[in-house]
Amino acid sequence: MTDLNEFENNAEEIHLPNTIDYLDIEKQYRQLMFMHEAAIEQVTAKLNILKGEFQFSNDRNPISSICSRIKSKESIIDKMQKKGLPFTISALLENIKDIAGIRVICPFIEDVYFVARMLVKQPDIEVLEVKDYIREPKDNGYRSLHLIVSDRVNFSNVSRGVTVEIQIRTIAMDFWASTEHQLRYKKETNFTKEAHDKLKYCAELMAEADREIQNLAGDFDLNQW
Ligand code: GTP
Ligand code: MG
Repeated sequence: MTDLNEFENNAEEIHLPNTIDYLDIEKQYRQLMFMHEAAIEQVTAKLNILKGEFQFSNDRNPISSICSRIKSKESIIDKMQKKGLPFTISALLENIKDIAGIRVICPFIEDVYFVARMLVKQPDIEVLEVKDYIREPKDNGYRSLHLIVSDRVNFSNVSRGVTVEIQIRTIAMDFWASTEHQLRYKKETNFTKEAHDKLKYCAELMAEADREIQNLAGDFDLNQW
């Protein structure tokens, strides 16, 4: 048990966090979140322009939906702890690439690659990393195209590259990923081998459906980009 007398005697030795430092890091953190929100808005606007243009010239939409999120403070802290990172702004910036996340859902597999190509060829987008989990699915069957890009955003006095994670996938891939995510979070322990195999089987059914639908798109001459 803490001896309160002892605490009083040693009080001068105990250094509480400096309020000025704390306010400063809090302000930097908010600034960082604001920059990532700006990047999300900018990349989402680019995606909406591509969507509108394609709709205009081809009478159909290569994007079914776009959603985005800023990573919560709790998730950031959790991820930094798991990675054993120090709680500094620079460690956060260097190591956490999904502070800004955008998910794009497309009808056909070829739309996924079309949207990715159109986006990365834009001059203010620089590709930092591509993970093609469609060509090489994860062991559990997860499929999606992941791009980590740096999007150049102009602020009043400075122009900065801001990192954004973009996940692009078909409706079928999204159906699988969303339900798998719910099952995984519901069941806190690991999946049994049987559940893992069943989920993987479902992922393969989705992939098969995607291929068939893609073939139909070819028959209907839908891929006119
Ligand atoms: P993170 O540390 O989580 O960012 O993983 P990573 O650096 O290995 O990146 P990866 O590209 O593999 O995954 C990033 C994101 O993709 C995750 O945060 C999820 O949103 C999604 N994801 C990856 N694997 C799975 C999966 O098996 N199931 C589902 N539902 N989503 C996944
Ligand atoms: Mg992530």
